[in-house]
Amino acid sequence: MAINKAKVAVGFIVSGVLMVFFGVVLTFVGPIIIDDQVVKNTVIDPKNSMSYTMWKDVPVPFFMSVYFFNVLNPQEILKGEKPMVEQKGPFVYRKRIQKDNITFHDNGTVSYREYRTYYFEPTMSSGNESDVVTIPNMLVLGAAGMMENLPYAIRLMISATFKTFKEGPFLTKTVGELMWGYDSGLVDFLNKWLPGMLPSTGKFGLFAEFNNSNTGLFTIFTGRDDIRKIHQVDSWNGLTELNYWKTPQCNMINGTAGQMWAPFMTRESTLPFYSPDACRSMELVYQRDGKMQGIPLYRYVAPKTLFANGTDYAPNAGFYSPVFISHPHFYNADPVLLDFVQGLNPTEEEHGLFIDIHPMTGVPLNVSIRLQLNLFMKTVSGIT
Ligand SMILES: *[C@@H]1O[C@H](CO)[C@@H](O)[C@H](O)[C@H]1NC(C)=O
Ligand SMILES: *[C@@H]1O[C@H](CO)[C@@H](O)[C@H](O)[C@H]1NC(C)=O
Ligand SMILES: *[C@@H]1O[C@H](CO)[C@@H](O)[C@H](O)[C@H]1NC(C)=O
Ligand SMILES: *[C@@H]1O[C@H](CO)[C@@H](O)[C@H](O)[C@H]1NC(C)=O
Ligand SMILES: *[C@@H]1O[C@H](CO)[C@@H](O)[C@H](O)[C@H]1NC(C)=O
Ligand SMILES: *[C@@H]1O[C@H](CO)[C@@H](O)[C@H](O)[C@H]1NC(C)=O
Ligand SMILES: *[C@@H]1O[C@H](CO)[C@@H](O)[C@H](O)[C@H]1NC(C)=O
Repeated sequence: MAINKAKVAVGFIVSGVLMVFFGVVLTFVGPIIIDDQVVKNTVIDPKNSMSYTMWKDVPVPFFMSVYFFNVLNPQEILKGEKPMVEQKGPFVYRKRIQKDNITFHDNGTVSYREYRTYYFEPTMSSGNESDVVTIPNMLVLGAAGMMENLPYAIRLMISATFKTFKEGPFLTKTVGELMWGYDSGLVDFLNKWLPGMLPSTGKFGLFAEFNNSNTGLFTIFTGRDDIRKIHQVDSWNGLTELNYWKTPQCNMINGTAGQMWAPFMTRESTLPFYSPDACRSMELVYQRDGKMQGIPLYRYVAPKTLFANGTDYAPNAGFYSPVFISHPHFYNADPVLLDFVQGLNPTEEEHGLFIDIHPMTGVPLNVSIRLQLNLFMKTVSGIT
């Protein structure tokens, strides 16, 4: 009996030791093994066939939902009344993205171009591309704002040119035309006499140059030499900084290309990225923990400073342009803006933006980037 008891006791001690040993293995060796696996599987390398294929030809569908603010009272606005808008849409496009022209360099970087194709999805849309909407004429109102400091006589001439080409302050066109371009006599005229003034040469439209185009030549770090640098942009079109903006800080190319980030994120990590479409770098910040189908995630959102004006947040003063980006419906913006337009109703669920990241691998699990394009309108004397 006594011997048996002793044996049982020894048995317990042995299993206790084993348990402690396993505990030690799990706490100390486990993460190292997992970290190794994460590093091995995230580095951009054709030998990692699965993650490389996913990086090259992102297998999840991307959808671009476009909404227009249809202007209901264009004539009254010209007399000084408050704009009244009604939201139309969504007009949904499926976006296919593929990396091509991939070249690996000796110094742990890789260059590529990312091509995109858009397909209209009628079943997901509310309305079709033949729907007609009235929006501010960016060409005329944008130009008018930029001509403010030119001599009065020149402003009168420009105003006459707008009239000649029948370009007014508002445009009524189909969604398809506004998105993918329409023929404009004024655009042809400007491209003939002032080549290089406009960003596009053919048709004029919000996304005229997007379909079947690429977002420029990106050179990014593969993570081979330093996993903390993986996906970071080394240069874009050969540039390590931009030249559009007024300050070096605004011109910086920060972070990744916006699809993936380095693994092993903490709540203090931020998500910086460079967007060629927005012509600038942006940075999202940690908001809260979450779960998607049991997988832990960190939710990243736009800090208040992202779209703040230069008075509120001095570094933004360098982003000088007649076109402004904000959250849709001026969500999180100065509430005074809501008083200037009728028909807006901001909510976080509908108009906030977020990226949900799996912190261990830096892979996005769910992304919803929602932006509104705003045009600064003002009366310019001489432009009638
Ligand atoms: C990129 O790849 C496409 C097709 O693969 C090719 O037609 C094009 O010339 C390449 N461009 C550059 C800049 O290498
Ligand atoms: C890496 O090599 C490429 C190609 O030679 C070059 O364009 C890039 O500037 C280099 N980057 C770094 C960080 O050395
Ligand atoms: C974009 O181009 C593709 C291929 O040329 C075409 O099938 C598609 O309809 C175009 N998308 C739009 C929205 O025009
Ligand atoms: C778009 O919708 C209108 C009516 O809502 C319809 O008459 C028209 O045929 C549709 N166009 C296309 C291309 O489906
Ligand atoms: C780029 O990063 C630097 C350093 O973090 C920051 O000061 C600067 O504002 C950033 N620029 C942009 C455009 O985000
Ligand atoms: C900048 O934003 C602040 C707060 O939102 C506002 O009070 C101020 O008038 C704005 N400044 C300009 C120049 O628009
Ligand atoms: C991703 O986010 C959207 C918007 O909040 C939500 O509707 C959707 O259910 C989320 N997707 C998944 C798989 O959780």
